[in-house]
Amino acid sequence: MATTDGPRDEGTATGAGVLVVIPTYDERENIDAVVGRVRAATPHAHVLVVDDNSPDGTGDLADALAASDPQVFVLHRAGKEGLGAAYLAGFAWAFERDYAAVVEMDADGSHLPEQLPDLLAAVGARAADVVLGSRWVPGGSVVNWPVHRKLLSRAGSLYARLMCGLHVADATGGYRVYRSEQLRELVADGVDSQGYCFQIDLVRRSVQAGLRVVEVPITFVERERGQSKMNRSIVLEAVVRVTRWGLERMAPARRHGDSPVPARAGG
Ligand code: GDD
Ligand code: MN
Repeated sequence: MATTDGPRDEGTATGAGVLVVIPTYDERENIDAVVGRVRAATPHAHVLVVDDNSPDGTGDLADALAASDPQVFVLHRAGKEGLGAAYLAGFAWAFERDYAAVVEMDADGSHLPEQLPDLLAAVGARAADVVLGSRWVPGGSVVNWPVHRKLLSRAGSLYARLMCGLHVADATGGYRVYRSEQLRELVADGVDSQGYCFQIDLVRRSVQAGLRVVEVPITFVERERGQSKMNRSIVLEAVVRVTRWGLERMAPARRHGDSPVPARAGG
């Protein structure tokens, strides 16, 4: 099914294009469909699956897709280290190969590949450095989410917005486009957010860096197969980090190591 535009560099991805990074952990029921839909919706784009050694064999299925399509690639990681680490590895892979833009997309069909052209168009038409697929702007929506997930997402975005001074409706979403040049700067000093707060962290960094962040409405469709990897520790990490970022922002003079009274056990 490979359709390559122009000569390829010995099977290695290069240059001006778009790389869609899809992190996977136990997505064997979803991986074929999502990769196929991305290839159909954006035939020029390359796809990188970043698999954390999924016990269900997702990595092997991804390898089979890559073997039959020169625009599909797989990055195998040793084990589950969270969404943030998987994306950082995917970004580094993209930087090494000079892609112009990097896309984040979930593997489970929640992010419709058919909407990717809309997101990519915003880079050119609206001069965006960062495009956020947004569930919570007019035209955006969520299909089949239980009410508690909707509340969690909206509350999470509101809290991140207030604490970090972000003027975006959907700060936690995971369907995005970054211009590589800017993304490289955003992550240059390392990002240690592990779970889904990685997404909030990157919005925060984008706003701080003065980048042009644009929201484009998306329809988020809850997965039909497999399970969410969201858990309590992911939520907790997000709350702790967003709170810390907010406090740092509100008291910019106080930095690490400036604490007047050293913490002391039993004190
Ligand atoms: N490689 C790797 N390693 N992939 C992971 C890991 C991990 O540790 N954890 C999750 N993923 C992958 C999943 O396989 C899936 O492709 C994607 O990350 C999203 O995971 P889900 O578990 O389906 O997320 P969700 O539907 O609960 O959460 C959605 O909403 C969050 C809050 O808005 C996603 O859109 C998240 O990106 C978003 O932050
Ligand atoms: Mn999901």
